[in-house]
Amino acid sequence: MHLTAEEEAILNGEEGETKQQLLEILVGVGKVFGAEEMVPIRSAQVSGASYKTIGEWGLKWLASLDAHAAVPAVLNPVGMDRIRWEEMGIDPGFAKKQLEVISAYERLGIRLECTCTPYYLNITEYGDHLAWSESSAVSYANSVIGARTNREGGPSALAAAIIGKTPKYGLHLVENRKPGIHIQVEGEPKQADASWYGALGYLAGKISGNRIPLFSGIRPGRDQLKNLGAAMAATGAVALYHVQGITPEARVFSYSTEGLEQFVINADEVASLFTGEQVDAVAIGCPHCSPDELIYLASLLEGCSVTKPVYIFAARDVIERESEQIRRIERSGARVYADTCMVVSPALERYDRIMVNSGKALSYVPTMCGAGAVIGSTEDCIRVACTPE
Ligand code: F3S
Repeated sequence: MHLTAEEEAILNGEEGETKQQLLEILVGVGKVFGAEEMVPIRSAQVSGASYKTIGEWGLKWLASLDAHAAVPAVLNPVGMDRIRWEEMGIDPGFAKKQLEVISAYERLGIRLECTCTPYYLNITEYGDHLAWSESSAVSYANSVIGARTNREGGPSALAAAIIGKTPKYGLHLVENRKPGIHIQVEGEPKQADASWYGALGYLAGKISGNRIPLFSGIRPGRDQLKNLGAAMAATGAVALYHVQGITPEARVFSYSTEGLEQFVINADEVASLFTGEQVDAVAIGCPHCSPDELIYLASLLEGCSVTKPVYIFAARDVIERESEQIRRIERSGARVYADTCMVVSPALERYDRIMVNSGKALSYVPTMCGAGAVIGSTEDCIRVACTPE
């Protein structure tokens, strides 16, 4: 692996032990994957921020580091809203440890944004190299924005944030971004919002595994692409997909379906995943809600009172920008939390059956929260939880 004189100096400890240790991690990863050099990154998103995941050992390791992020860097969702955690019913002992983890990251120059939608924070655009961790964020960055990132682990993303570079291999290289299979979608979506695309992604991820699918027959908007990619990253390991005529690289490179393994998914098959309405809570915002989704939720909740708990999750920055919508939503009794989500927070473990509008949550809620999950459209989610005033 070719290293610059500056990188060699860091490896020799000339900029301190922390940077030396973190660059060693990056060079080690680069050598394993055959990277020829490092590439500067525009931003990083660091996972391993929940105390539930990193525990006491991780906290001690973070506290031992002495450096500052070289590029804009944010965290993945943590186990609770760092301000409204009491309202979420979080145990104070857990909250204390979680806040210590967040402070440890803050000391390293990581922004106090804990979100799986860092693309709403203006820290990336087309062609940027990134070091992001969370699978749905990685999928969105690669597929919808046309930026370039592998799915980083927590330590390698943190190392990249501090060094400002990542090893150049995998999806950083154009030749590894071509489609491997073609999925033709037949029929019209039965649900009008992004939930149908989440259900499509739930099925398509199982077909794709870790291959790069090229879709045709669909015309999704941005929130629909978000839900599609998140679900494929959950039921498969899809870090990049293309949609003919829609996603940036499919437009630039005009990929052909010839020579690709062919699959068909019918809209009726997707619609058949929408079953049952007997639930005891509703959770929306997997991935975290966009400003448009919050506006839509506010309009659906207008004039309603919730009779079942409704949890909505979004990035803190988005919540602050959309404060008027949040007031409209919370007037109904629904709650909008930042920094966390239905899967990483222990708050939803108390329910037996949860309705979600996301293919990724449909896949993860049963294993991570121990609750049954059903998928509904956003409208269904609000209907089952609300009575008109
Ligand atoms: Fe985000 Fe949590 Fe879903 S991290 S993608 S809201 S599982």
